[in-house]
Amino acid sequence: MKTIGETGMKNDSMQGVESLHMEKWSSKRRDFLRMLGYGAGAVALAPVLTACGDASGQTTAEQLRAQLVQDEAFWTNVEKMFVLRSDKTYMNIGTAGSMPQAVLDMFAEENLLKAQDSGSGYSNLADLRTQVAAGFGVDSDELAFSANTSSGMCHAILGIDWKPGDVIVTTNHEHGGGNTPLNIARDRYGIEIARVEMPVGNNQSVATYQNLFDDRVRTLKAQGKNVRAMMWSAPTYTTGTMLPIAELMEVVKTHGLISIVDGAHLPGMMAYDYGALGMDFMSGAGHKWQCGPGSTGILIIRNKIRSSNPLPLPKWFPIHTSSYSTLERTSSSTAAYDVAASVTACGSVHTPMFKSLAKACELWDSIGRKKIETYDLTLASYLKERIVERWGVDSLYAPKDDPKLLSALTSFNPFRNKADITSNEKSTQFVSNMQNEAGFVIRNVGFAVPGSASNHYGVRISTHLWHDAEDIDRLVEAMWSLSGRMA
Ligand SMILES: Cc1ncc(COP(=O)(O)O)c(C=O)c1O
Repeated sequence: MKTIGETGMKNDSMQGVESLHMEKWSSKRRDFLRMLGYGAGAVALAPVLTACGDASGQTTAEQLRAQLVQDEAFWTNVEKMFVLRSDKTYMNIGTAGSMPQAVLDMFAEENLLKAQDSGSGYSNLADLRTQVAAGFGVDSDELAFSANTSSGMCHAILGIDWKPGDVIVTTNHEHGGGNTPLNIARDRYGIEIARVEMPVGNNQSVATYQNLFDDRVRTLKAQGKNVRAMMWSAPTYTTGTMLPIAELMEVVKTHGLISIVDGAHLPGMMAYDYGALGMDFMSGAGHKWQCGPGSTGILIIRNKIRSSNPLPLPKWFPIHTSSYSTLERTSSSTAAYDVAASVTACGSVHTPMFKSLAKACELWDSIGRKKIETYDLTLASYLKERIVERWGVDSLYAPKDDPKLLSALTSFNPFRNKADITSNEKSTQFVSNMQNEAGFVIRNVGFAVPGSASNHYGVRISTHLWHDAEDIDRLVEAMWSLSGRMA
């Protein structure tokens, strides 16, 4: 979207605290933020992915491109909210986001205020949780602030009253942030971990996942195992496949299980209503797609019975807290106590950091979470179609055709010699050449592929609200050229 030196945004982030106020910003940027404040409805984007398709029902690359540019002025202004260096194109949001200027302002101002008027951070941040919760479809007692996804996964998994022999069914594409507490629970409480083998590529659908989990749970039960929980990443950090939460919750409810979602990438990318989805736990990052400060996360904990999930609440104890209720959990639609407070309140917390996270959430709510989701997914779909044109559909690890399996993470095999993908060294070289030669910040990730003796080291690209169709065009050109030179 930018050419070198075009925005001059770099300097803004280096200014002193006193000059970080909105009145010092350019009039264009001020007008844009006012527009967000005054009427999110006025800027709502029609759902673009469904807007058109060819005779086969598929949306072509050109159609996707047209959808992306139809609201170009709006997204150019969104990009101006950020202070990203203009000599690089940041496409690894799956690892780290970037705070917009308004969030940086909030962070700086609140830190200064706290230093000027020294105060404690003893709080469960109820007001901020209330402010943020609506955007996620839950009440404040169901939304906790955690340190990041990994911390939320520890809260969720290590707080459950596991018994020896309990089985948790998960996948072979989980991140260390979820695998680590699973391994601790295995060694400390004697649980067993059963993993379904993840498919890759375009030839998969929602039913693939329902069947994989349902079959495994049934098989284990038939063996006399005490299956107690399902855990999965949505999306996976490996291929970027969105495991379908609503449909997997049907499997969960059929078998009466505890449900734990590693949703590291969900906040800020997808506009999910977690009350309607009804999982027991969803651990997400605040610092990735939501673009809040580092060391922030959002942990959703089911704390009352909703129609979306009539199963009893699991017995669960806070494991990292200075706020403990001895009340039993509720069996009705009214919460017995604020379970999210027990996760959020642990000694004195960094209030400026969480105020800044809440500011980022407010910005996303103003733009419209659905609008951001639609744009991110359209960018990813456009990227996938461009990849297919050059490398063929078999190069994709992320599926493209089942709309429920889409995320804004795209993994693929960029090598002309397809077998090169099992070389971590070559894949790492590809990523570093892309940055050094063309300024694109992407990453690679190793994962098991059915039928392959070695891991594949796919290249992973994140598409978010500061990108546009031109960024994708330049990226694909640069990757195609590099793959030719590395052949
Ligand atoms: C699926 C998944 N889970 C967990 C994590 C860990 O995230 P965090 O740094 O927020 O703990 C990541 C990080 O990339 C991830 O992709």
